[in-house]
Amino acid sequence: MNQTNQTNTWDQVDQYISDRLIPHDAILEQVLAVNQKAGLPPYDVSPNQGKLLNIFAQMQGAQRVLEIGTLGGYSTIWLGRALPKDGKIVTLEANPLHAETARSNIVLAQLDGMVELREGDALKQLAQMEEERVAPFDLIFIDADKPNNPLYLAWALRFSHPGTVIIGDNVIREGEVIQALSTDPRIQGVRKFYDLLAEESRITATAIQTVGSKGYDGFVIGIVNG
Ligand code: SAH
Ligand code: DHB
Ligand code: MG
Repeated sequence: MNQTNQTNTWDQVDQYISDRLIPHDAILEQVLAVNQKAGLPPYDVSPNQGKLLNIFAQMQGAQRVLEIGTLGGYSTIWLGRALPKDGKIVTLEANPLHAETARSNIVLAQLDGMVELREGDALKQLAQMEEERVAPFDLIFIDADKPNNPLYLAWALRFSHPGTVIIGDNVIREGEVIQALSTDPRIQGVRKFYDLLAEESRITATAIQTVGSKGYDGFVIGIVNG
């Protein structure tokens, strides 16, 4: 199969899966429409991936979630729906337009009671959260600027307890991740992320390649050891 046909197949299979397993959801569909209209980049996870995050959160019995990189709140909503009523998500977003869009989407999804959107550079917010002695999280989703992934991993560990699940998005990037000499700082950030995971005895991690409507990419999934 040539590349165009293959991408076509990935899209169609994603659609096939969504048609069967992802019920139409007026709120989630509106969120994607709002994000597009506001001019946000199309970096939201796909519906299938959003549901996967939701299932991970349920498997984990997560009550407290940390998300680094909110965009329009699409993944936030999938995660929030997996939490008990008294659950909590702290989500970090630097871009004011993204943050404003996410806030209104989170209200639309009626999750504003459980979501704390902290606007500003994630590294600054994380440092401030440490000063505030914010409690550890059960699941942490790293999905912001990839060059900072190594630093986000260090922060994730500081906000973890034994059993915390750490998920990182965009760790394959069309296979570019294997280009050791890549001059793309996102690739180098992701590569350093793998290296740190490899040498980090406190985490058990793997990565899984994915194809679909978001192209060829993947997730890192790790668990903080007991
Ligand atoms: N998790 C979202 C997608 C996030 S896209 C979803 O799946 O729906 C990445 C987001 O990270 C963008 O909105 C971008 O503005 C934000 N971001 C990039 N650098 C950041 C930083 N240093 N601090 C906080 N947010 C950042
Ligand atoms: C980019 C970021 C994302 O979180 C994503 O899912 C896709 C692309 C990016 O910065 O290019
Ligand atoms: Mg992403």
